[in-house]
Amino acid sequence: MTRRAVVIGVGHYLPERVVPNSEFEKSLDTTDEWIKSRSGIERRHFAAPGETTSDLGAKAAMKALKSAGLTGEDVDAIVVATSTADLTFPSAATMVQDAIGNTKGFAFDVQAVCAGFAFALANANALIVSGQANRALVIGAETFSRIMDWTDRSTCVLFGDGAGALVLEAQEGNGTADDRGVLATDLNSDGRYKEILYVDGGVSTHTTGVLKMQGKEVFRHAVEKLAETAHTSLAKVGLTAEDVDWVVPHQANIRIIKSTAKKLGVDMDRVVVTVQDHGNTSAASIPLALSVGVENSQIKQGDLIVTEAIGGGLAWGSAIIRW
Ligand code: ACO
Repeated sequence: MTRRAVVIGVGHYLPERVVPNSEFEKSLDTTDEWIKSRSGIERRHFAAPGETTSDLGAKAAMKALKSAGLTGEDVDAIVVATSTADLTFPSAATMVQDAIGNTKGFAFDVQAVCAGFAFALANANALIVSGQANRALVIGAETFSRIMDWTDRSTCVLFGDGAGALVLEAQEGNGTADDRGVLATDLNSDGRYKEILYVDGGVSTHTTGVLKMQGKEVFRHAVEKLAETAHTSLAKVGLTAEDVDWVVPHQANIRIIKSTAKKLGVDMDRVVVTVQDHGNTSAASIPLALSVGVENSQIKQGDLIVTEAIGGGLAWGSAIIRW
């Protein structure tokens, strides 16, 4: 028998305020048409003043717990992927822990920017497979609206706020690719590229900073590295792109999503796309897309899913999940 981390619940939360592309036309030299054609984004949600990353994460977590028929006390690990935690410390995860009424588990944040959910999922999977945890909440939650330079049209139109969450549970499988659960993960980083996507502030520099990006460079790395990591994960379980029911990619840009799907050899009708409605929500984008995919009856139990993401660092990774 093989211990597997099986998804038993999923949920998401988006802040109430929806901002269409047209709103940026008032303050920037940009158009709805430019944003849509270059990124695929039509609208995004922004958190209200005072609404924090852990607020979003806790709401997504409660929905995921409800869908699993559980309460906050029923999990023993809470992992939050975020680059926009409420405070420098404690972690957003401990704030989520308190908000969902969990007192017995352990909680920590993972920071790998837009690849954060892949890293958090791999960590939670390892905790479950090793026996350290039996049930884990894995959450991606972000308020990237707090680190935008509102005068930089090449970045501020691309990002949004939101959160998504999965509940994982230890279950016994037979050790084959037919098992439900996380079947493989692949993680990578290369700090030589830290200057193509970063925030120019932080605790050590006494500032918060704003996001800076060399879009074209990031784009180039994304298409190459995302397909590569997806192939690596699939190969670990002896599967190919033909076996995949759904690709659930990081939602940064529809052109990256399409190019990666093409490289993988997967038609777009097998790709979950939410970038038009959410923009780039960094570490929240994959769990958000998984939750929307289930809500829309695209993803069903037993489906084979590939997720892949890349972000600042650069950091990138993927996971194979039998839903
Ligand atoms: N409105 C109008 N014009 C704009 C805008 C805008 N919002 N933004 C940039 N432009 C202009 C540029 O100034 C440039 O003008 P110029 O030719 O006079 O200099 C022109 O449009 C073309 O700009 P490019 O950067 O060449 O446009 P490109 O087609 O590469 O699209 C984009 C830009 C959307 C940023 C693209 O490069 C991209 O998506 N890159 C990847 C970004 C990404 O995915 N980041 C996230 C991954 S990691 C993470 O999630 C944190």
